[in-house]
Amino acid sequence: STAEIGLIGLGTMGAALALNIADNGFDIAVWNRTSAKTDAFHEGAGDLARRITPTQTLEAFVAAIKSPRAIILMVPAGQPVDDQIAALRPLLDADDLIIDAGNANFHDTNRRSAEAGDLPFLGIGVSGGEEGARFGPSIMGGGKRESWDRVEHILTAIAAKHKGISCATWMGEQGAGHFVKAVHNGIEYADMQMIAEVYGIMRDGLAMTSDAIAETFANWDNGALRSYLIEISGKVAATQDPATGRPMLDVIVDAAGQKGTGRWTVIEAQHLAAPIPAIEAAVVARNLSSQREARAAAEVLFGSAPHHIAHDVLPLSTIEDALIAGKILCYAQGFDMIAKASDAFDWALPLPAIAEVWREGCIIRSAMLDDMATALRENPERNLMMAPRFADTLKQTHGALRQVVAQAALHGLALPALSSGLAYFDAMRTGRGTANMIQGQRDFFGAHGFARIDGGSGHHGPWAA
Ligand code: 6PG
Repeated sequence: STAEIGLIGLGTMGAALALNIADNGFDIAVWNRTSAKTDAFHEGAGDLARRITPTQTLEAFVAAIKSPRAIILMVPAGQPVDDQIAALRPLLDADDLIIDAGNANFHDTNRRSAEAGDLPFLGIGVSGGEEGARFGPSIMGGGKRESWDRVEHILTAIAAKHKGISCATWMGEQGAGHFVKAVHNGIEYADMQMIAEVYGIMRDGLAMTSDAIAETFANWDNGALRSYLIEISGKVAATQDPATGRPMLDVIVDAAGQKGTGRWTVIEAQHLAAPIPAIEAAVVARNLSSQREARAAAEVLFGSAPHHIAHDVLPLSTIEDALIAGKILCYAQGFDMIAKASDAFDWALPLPAIAEVWREGCIIRSAMLDDMATALRENPERNLMMAPRFADTLKQTHGALRQVVAQAALHGLALPALSSGLAYFDAMRTGRGTANMIQGQRDFFGAHGFARIDGGSGHHGPWAA
């Protein structure tokens, strides 16, 4: 037994992660359900093959790893993880560590941690797609701290670096890592949706070509919006379909797929009573996008939106500012949800450190996250929209967001995430809201009682019949 670590599951992400581990100088044993895949992986590993031990049986795999063992599972989330753990545990010693690196639902990770009892188990969220897994992902760890400490040197070595600081951090007990990964994905959905919405304004409202849209994203990538998602959106818009010569965007069906992580975030937010409307809107937008037949029928019935917004009414710089405001509001919601979960689950989730591990390697990596990390270090308790540096930016940009949402509404363009971001902003800054009416209604029909502004709760109204 020579390998320092083992990895099960040589799909896209598992294979990339195994190569990354080998590339960082760690000997690794690998096993896959189908042996042909294991052989092909080893043969394709080039120079790194000498650090990789391919194995054909689970027994041989376990035997190839130094004791006490550490074994990464990179198998599809859900039942396959439970099946794999069940097959593996009987072959392991009590101090061998299993690490689920897939996109598990954190409730499953909580359960598996409980089932593991004293047996070491970690659930780690890994973000960054195939390229991230191969050359440096962002890693959000959860489980017992001492288990994390055993593999920290490997995980920090393979993770992305921000100015030399590794983007791999222990977030807390049990499913804390997978929870943080789920919120990452929720934010990812909202970031993507808001970019898709401004793409829609440019395409349908401003009648811009894909090339012009690509150039706009490329310009924005040099400013406050600098981020991986803006960068790739520009590249997506710039690409032509080899078969037809048309822009790729024009040949892609407008129905978004989803594996469920964004939905988990929204469901959990409801349990926590955490307001994350931009993320909810993004999940709803994906659901709605798949109703293609109903949308086509409704377009026939109601007519499609009257297009064309004059360029001087909505300059590109206004759209850029609107996206900046929307992005700040979306992250403020995401971090607020994390703070609520931290209290509810007794996790002490490190908000500044979360912003820090998201600075590089993951899908939502961006220049703004560096400022968010600083703001959260200065005051982890405060809603991010009120941190001085973001409050200043919001003061300068919320007018643009309002402009964009208003013009889109007048021209019949749907902006679910951006407009819910604006509603969140306006609701948050309304010191005296309208829930007094809700309380009046509740008391009227159900005698639920209300608090009075001059003190006391449980009051009832002298309601007119
Ligand atoms: C990441 C991503 C990744 C996710 C894909 C697809 O951080 O690398 O979040 O984990 O699986 O982006 O997600 P959907 O299929 O739900 O869009």
